[in-house]
Amino acid sequence: MSEDLILNLLKNVKYPGFSRDLVSFGLVQQAEMDGKTAKVVLELSTTDPTLPQTIKKDVETALLADDAIESAEVMIRVKKKKETAAPTDGPGDENLSGVKRIIAIASGKGGVGKSTLAVNLACALARMKSTEGEFLKVGLMDCDLYGPSVPLLIGASGRPELVGDNILAPVESYGVKSISMGLLIDEESPVVWRGPMIMKTIQQFAHNVVWGDLDYLLIDLPPGTGDAQLSLAQILPLDGAVLITTPQKAAVDVARRGARMFEKVNVPILGVVENMSFLLDDESGKKTYLFGQGGGATTAQVLKCPFLGEIPIHEEVRLGGDHGTPVVVANEENPSSKEIYLIAGKITEILP
Ligand SMILES: Nc1ncnc2c1ncn2[C@@H]1O[C@H](COP(=O)(O)OP(=O)(O)OP(=O)(O)O)[C@@H](O)[C@H]1O
Ligand SMILES: [Mg+2]
Repeated sequence: MSEDLILNLLKNVKYPGFSRDLVSFGLVQQAEMDGKTAKVVLELSTTDPTLPQTIKKDVETALLADDAIESAEVMIRVKKKKETAAPTDGPGDENLSGVKRIIAIASGKGGVGKSTLAVNLACALARMKSTEGEFLKVGLMDCDLYGPSVPLLIGASGRPELVGDNILAPVESYGVKSISMGLLIDEESPVVWRGPMIMKTIQQFAHNVVWGDLDYLLIDLPPGTGDAQLSLAQILPLDGAVLITTPQKAAVDVARRGARMFEKVNVPILGVVENMSFLLDDESGKKTYLFGQGGGATTAQVLKCPFLGEIPIHEEVRLGGDHGTPVVVANEENPSSKEIYLIAGKITEILP
């Protein structure tokens, strides 16, 4: 009962800068009344030194506003990086412990080529070698639960094998290990997701999948910059995000919104990639800027982060996706492929 009272009060406290409250974000670890004292423990995964204080104050104010509460003891625990993804059930954190770098592929809006680039970057990385001369080990987690497109794009089929109690093995194609809702459900039976289910599923993708040793785990995020995306950015211990944008001037604002979301959870933007930059005439080399010019470079300038490259529009990119053979695999000499390899190289320099 007393816990309900506290939780109801905390439901009115928003996560700073967001429309969602602390309870629905799953931050409340403990809530109990001791006489007329409310005792609350919250757990955050932020490196923003001001955030715990802000939240503490907001929580105290909300609690003390109720007549039944005379004093409040609010404790904020700040989780360190790799602990961010709290184990739910199953094996806990060890399945991500062999993963060196986790990078989200994100954008402010849909349809800009996130999934296409996530798949192609993953395949490109998997064909590159480490300084020790070994091929990089790469995984790809499809966090778009409503519209999972990774399996089609990377030509993965078949169900992930159950290798233990509630433990799945990722499927492998072109040397990339992947997991996706698309591999787990039938196309005919779409699932209606609710917020907490999304969080739980992503936690399972993180903890109940044997990723093994990976140099890079790429995350294909769903479109948008809402609370769902923020939750994902919180659950997964991200090392950074690559923002995908398009050349239009209007794309700058959209990308900035995307970037702000990562700022909130202190995930650095590794760089901006502009996709569908121009149409390239294969013979003359002439570039036609269908959607205008400069969106990506301006976004990078505004965000004070590196501009990683511009990928031309090319039919082979789409065909590669349609056929499940990513263009970087199908044709390394394709101009879009070349650019994607360059970008993959830059990513390995930024996050070696
Ligand atoms: N450089 C490119 N040249 C040609 N076609 C491209 C290029 N990049 C992406 N496409 C095509 O654009 C479409 C959208 O790409 P994709 O599905 O990767 O976008 P997305 O950002 O993941 O979309 P969503 O937000 O819905 O997840 C696909 O048909 C893809 O083949
Ligand atoms: Mg997508």
